[in-house]
Amino acid sequence: GSSVMDLQQEILFSLEKDGVVISNEFGESIKESHQKIVGAIKSLESLGNVVNVKQNALKTWECTEEGTGVATEGSHEARLFNSLPPEGRSVADIKDNFPNSNFALGAAMKNKWLKKEGEKVVPAMTSIEDQVQKYLQAITAGAADSVPDNVKVEYKKRKLIREVEMTVFEVTKGNEFTTSIVKQEGELTKEMIESGQWKKTTFKPFNFKSKGRVDQRSGYLHPLMQLRSEFRQIFLEMGFSEMPTNNFVESAFWNFDALFQPQQHPARDAHDTFYVAEPGKTINVPEDYLQKVKKTHSVGGYGSIGYQYDWSRDEAHKNLLRTHTTAVSARMLYKLAQDGFQPVKFFSIDRVFRNETLDATHLAEFNQIEGVVADYNLSIKNLMGLIKGFFEKIGITKLRFKPAYNPYTEPSMEIFSYHEGLQKWVEVGNSGMFRPEMLRPMGIPENVTVAAWGLSLERPAMIMYGINNIRELVGPRVKMELILDNPVCTIDK
Ligand code: PHE
Repeated sequence: GSSVMDLQQEILFSLEKDGVVISNEFGESIKESHQKIVGAIKSLESLGNVVNVKQNALKTWECTEEGTGVATEGSHEARLFNSLPPEGRSVADIKDNFPNSNFALGAAMKNKWLKKEGEKVVPAMTSIEDQVQKYLQAITAGAADSVPDNVKVEYKKRKLIREVEMTVFEVTKGNEFTTSIVKQEGELTKEMIESGQWKKTTFKPFNFKSKGRVDQRSGYLHPLMQLRSEFRQIFLEMGFSEMPTNNFVESAFWNFDALFQPQQHPARDAHDTFYVAEPGKTINVPEDYLQKVKKTHSVGGYGSIGYQYDWSRDEAHKNLLRTHTTAVSARMLYKLAQDGFQPVKFFSIDRVFRNETLDATHLAEFNQIEGVVADYNLSIKNLMGLIKGFFEKIGITKLRFKPAYNPYTEPSMEIFSYHEGLQKWVEVGNSGMFRPEMLRPMGIPENVTVAAWGLSLERPAMIMYGINNIRELVGPRVKMELILDNPVCTIDK
């Protein structure tokens, strides 16, 4: 066989001479497999406009496995003839020892190659011509046209050949036709860059018509997104509605100030928060509400003395990547108060950003799950009941609460659950009752309390998938297999 480069060259010369090349006919004429010719034509096509290629469907014939055997070894009758010694063989011996003996004997007698002498079969000719083999060889070579139609019908019945449809390529000269082609490189290598060779190299253009793998599996959810949809389902079953979380960029006002987090709070420090350079400032904070927030921070109100500092509008207007989805909860509670309060159950699951030191369990972004319930006279008992109900739905029943501190909740509690696999109590979330200093400036009625809790999506995902390094779950090092092979249901109830 010739190399693809040689074949391309031969096709171009033939094109120059005849003006057209038909792939199957060309293959026959140079005794090369059709597959190889097609490969060479496709390479020529990828050069741009050197050639034009048209595809035609062609009905033709190919040998079956048995037919291929005949094409290479000869017909059964010819093989029988060739196996006979001059003095012949007994019929019984042939029937016992020769494969397909009945057929071979019949056909060889009919052809008058053999004759019977008593109990023996002896040659009737000195040499024979195996026409069956010749025809099948022609079919193998793609020259089915040279075989008479009635013969093809007969061979089809004998299961030596079958009809197939093949794609034939018709090649004509393109606008940039040439017979001198340059070898095209498929890939830019480090060596080419180092030696400067890339400047003199012609590269293969991208083939945007390529169909891609047909067995490519697609439409799979990333494990995190799958777990997210399961948590979403749990909230929906509990009658919660989803908050709109489609803004990663938030103002310090909604992320911190509205939540009664003092402007000197360490979490605001540039070490934890990603501030946004452009646009650096927000423009639309409701002014009357802003004034109430300012007053609550600097002098207090609603039974509080505030933080007693000079509250800065500038600081509140800074844009940042939200550090928690509680910013969304603040917006929603404010809106609820403006629309006329009524009891609600809200949830959200989306991304938040923190400038953390990256390690096996921390990235600079993660997903937060948040539940918020606002109603008349809710107590911490209701909060604990809600959290128990929520975690029960994901199969976590052993829970402990530990007093904690958040600027915007009082009381605040960290949530721990007993992890059977790790055999220890692990922190699974944070919770609390939103402070009056947060709710009253919004206009939430005085006898309304709001219970809320938050947890990360990544931590349960890592535990459920048995992943120790967050980089195997999120980011560029995630293996495609993790997504393709990830089991359908992960929450084990
Ligand atoms: N916002 C808190 C955090 O980022 C979680 C939380 C939500 C705590 C609601 C209390 C109430 O960790």
